[in-house]
Amino acid sequence: MTTTTSDHPDDTGATATDTLSRRDLLGKTAAAGLGLSAASVFNILPVHAQPSSQPAPVLKNSKIVLGLIGCGGMGSANMRTLMGKPEIEVAALCDVDESRMGGDIAEVEKKYGKKPETYKDYRKMLERKDINAVIVGTPDHWHALNQIHASEAGKDSYCEKPISHNIVEAKSMVGAAKRYNSIVQVGTWQRSTREFVSAVEYIRSGKLGKITTVRAWKTDGSRMGQNKPGTAVPATFDYDRWIGPAAFVPYIPNYTHGNWRWFFNYGSGMTGDWGVHMMDIGLLGMSKTWDLVMPTEVSAYGGKLAWPDDDRTAPDTHVAIMKFSNPDFVLHWETGRKPLDGGPDHGTEFIAADGKSVMVWRGGWKVVDADGKELPKEEAPGTNDHWQNWIDCVKTRTQPRSNLLSMAQSTIVCHLANAALLAGETVRWDKNKMDIVGKAGKNTLSYQRPYRKPYKLPIYPI
Ligand SMILES: NC(=O)c1ccc[n+]([C@@H]2O[C@H](COP(=O)([O-])OP(=O)(O)OC[C@H]3O[C@@H](n4cnc5c(N)ncnc54)[C@H](O)[C@@H]3O)[C@@H](O)[C@H]2O)c1
Repeated sequence: MTTTTSDHPDDTGATATDTLSRRDLLGKTAAAGLGLSAASVFNILPVHAQPSSQPAPVLKNSKIVLGLIGCGGMGSANMRTLMGKPEIEVAALCDVDESRMGGDIAEVEKKYGKKPETYKDYRKMLERKDINAVIVGTPDHWHALNQIHASEAGKDSYCEKPISHNIVEAKSMVGAAKRYNSIVQVGTWQRSTREFVSAVEYIRSGKLGKITTVRAWKTDGSRMGQNKPGTAVPATFDYDRWIGPAAFVPYIPNYTHGNWRWFFNYGSGMTGDWGVHMMDIGLLGMSKTWDLVMPTEVSAYGGKLAWPDDDRTAPDTHVAIMKFSNPDFVLHWETGRKPLDGGPDHGTEFIAADGKSVMVWRGGWKVVDADGKELPKEEAPGTNDHWQNWIDCVKTRTQPRSNLLSMAQSTIVCHLANAALLAGETVRWDKNKMDIVGKAGKNTLSYQRPYRKPYKLPIYPI
């Protein structure tokens, strides 16, 4: 039996870096965002210190000509949302599995009266000069190469979350975007929805008081069962290219489309899949700008405790405890069989010293006192939607709401939670060096992976 828990909005109802270069990256503009007003909290100055030295892209009839890499669930959903914007024209589609492109080809033809060019090799698509930007909708093990190569080719990107398969990739992606002045929006659309904007704004205003604990959670009911290799790879599917830089394993259909996220060879389990959304909100609320607070120590416990015989390699039960300093608080991440306190199956909760709390989930948020009685709250002004925010930033060469550096930090927190679990040790993080301190955690897939030949990760310093 296979169950997949999607974090698609429509399904919910609703190498080491030195201190100096990091300061250079975040620098004065981030500091300038400290005086936040209700309206400005998500419109603070760009994270990158230097203004782009690159001119705005030459847009055909002021349109952003787009290519889609990965025509699966979320890549396709992003493309369709963007096609609803007058500034967008989709010109090309790329997937290593031809059978996944049919619906998107028809949709593009219907909208623009012309079939899009189709590709199996995204690098061929990136050679096209008329394409300004790409959507990266591939499984996580492909994001780093897709986005770095897009940056090298002078394209902006809308890159799905978690940004990377591991920590070393995440850092290089930020470095490449900086080097080539790419405007990258990450698909954490929660940063652009009313309830999350309001809850983060409320926390940042200080109204809840001193916060001691942040909880983030998502239940996990995904099971693979036990599957055996043996089925021939369909003629339409370039499975070797799908595996890409990951370790080669014999073809098992149930391990590929959609389900890759339950294997550390390709993804990072529920902790990377949903943790990157829910912990991101906790980190954002506890930070003053897009430069996020980061834990100094991360410990984790869990494993395949609910279904030990299931094929998945990611844990079905995972609790991570993280220590933060300045401000001092503890973040608790949990994925398991049951939501905390019988509440929604996912969420983020900020708990103050006096027991008051703010809880936010897809569809709502509330402020309650220590006895659980609801208190008055204020909605923050709405923002433009996540995709529009990216379009506007591509045109103005400014940093979007889920910019790459900020989302590298949220993604890295997920990878640290997995690294601590896989290593069975407390992992320590240095925010200034943007690297693990000491050896614990470095010997895990969540930190770094050997790339399968001939694939090679270009390394860009931050
Ligand atoms: N933001 C959100 O709410 C949200 C929701 C769901 C998924 N996602 C993210 O979207 C990404 C895709 O997830 P999905 O569930 O749509 O996966 P999926 O398996 O349904 O689709 C991925 C597609 O990419 C294709 N692909 C793989 N390697 C490729 C390559 N090298 N070049 C071109 N195509 C390639 C696959 O054949 C497949 O069609 C993931 O990073 C996931 O975490 C985000």
